[in-house]
Amino acid sequence: MTTHTPGARAELVWITNPDNYDPGLGARLKREGSERVDLYVEHGFDVRVVHSCDVVPGWNSGPRLWHGDEDLLCKGRGFLLSSWTWHQGIAQQIQAIARTIRASDAVLLTDGVHGAEGLAMDKLAMYHHAGRLDVPVLPCVAVPFGRYTRRALETVRRELAADAPHGYVIKPREMAMGFGVHRVDTLEQLSSALDLLAPADLGCLVQPCLPHTGDVRVYVHQGRQLAALLRTPEAGAYRANVSQGGSGSALTVPAEITEMSERLARSVDADYLCVDWLLGADGPVFNEWMTVSAAFEDLPEPERSTVGRALVTHLARRLGVGGTEA
Ligand SMILES: Nc1ncnc2c1ncn2[C@@H]1O[C@H](COP(=O)(O)OP(=O)(O)O)[C@@H](O)[C@H]1O
Ligand SMILES: [Mg+2]
Repeated sequence: MTTHTPGARAELVWITNPDNYDPGLGARLKREGSERVDLYVEHGFDVRVVHSCDVVPGWNSGPRLWHGDEDLLCKGRGFLLSSWTWHQGIAQQIQAIARTIRASDAVLLTDGVHGAEGLAMDKLAMYHHAGRLDVPVLPCVAVPFGRYTRRALETVRRELAADAPHGYVIKPREMAMGFGVHRVDTLEQLSSALDLLAPADLGCLVQPCLPHTGDVRVYVHQGRQLAALLRTPEAGAYRANVSQGGSGSALTVPAEITEMSERLARSVDADYLCVDWLLGADGPVFNEWMTVSAAFEDLPEPERSTVGRALVTHLARRLGVGGTEA
């Protein structure tokens, strides 16, 4: 394993999963991702983007992450690993890469929260965690695998139906960008949707559908809220993800949302955390959190620059390097 030369620029390796996307969408995401790369470069990082399919994790006298004949692992180097996928083979690859980086002296920057491994990505684990802290969460049912899938219907009927006058949302536990987030109105439709999901073994949750006026993303850095982004679904739509047509604007949030977001960030020792809330008629409901990969580019100025600076400060702190101000 090589080490940094003192005084050298901090290095980031961003491992992406282009095999998740239709090539056209992949090209658009690459263009959008290049804004993030520019920000990092401007603040003193060297950035390499590597595709997960081109990386081979292994061990040979130490953890190795081969890219051709080069070992990407190096003391103090930071890795950003895009870790959601609908493909079981890619999921295994991501897991192998993550575990190899964690075993090395390099830093897996996308970990970002302390606690069980699943807390970084798994919505079910997040709801357990947030609910224990008295943060409002929707009830949910995890869908069993394979031929047991339809058993979820009985549990949904018993546990959720009375509180689901607007139908249900089925969503994968560990995905992003609104992928596979599906709304159904009736238990019959839910039953068919579950039949379609079963062969994919995606690992899904069923929740009541909460009519909401939008999602709020709160950016917390070093224990304090920096900014909030309101994402509103397109007319007639239910997903507020900007990648699904939602639109973003800055927002002053009620003190209650700020307090709960900061409390959640503290509870997982997160130096930088983006906490998403659904704005329901009876108040905010926790939806999910994300670490450094969450978008902030849809914020207007000056919030966009504030959050961008916080992000690079966070990365520099995790890598133990200073002086990243542009
Ligand atoms: N239970 C729900 N009721 C109503 N809308 C929901 C619910 N869950 C998610 N949504 C909408 O769908 C969007 C995507 O769901 P989310 O859980 O955030 O998944 P992802 O990780 O793909 O962003 C949310 O931003 C929200 O607008
Ligand atoms: Mg989301």
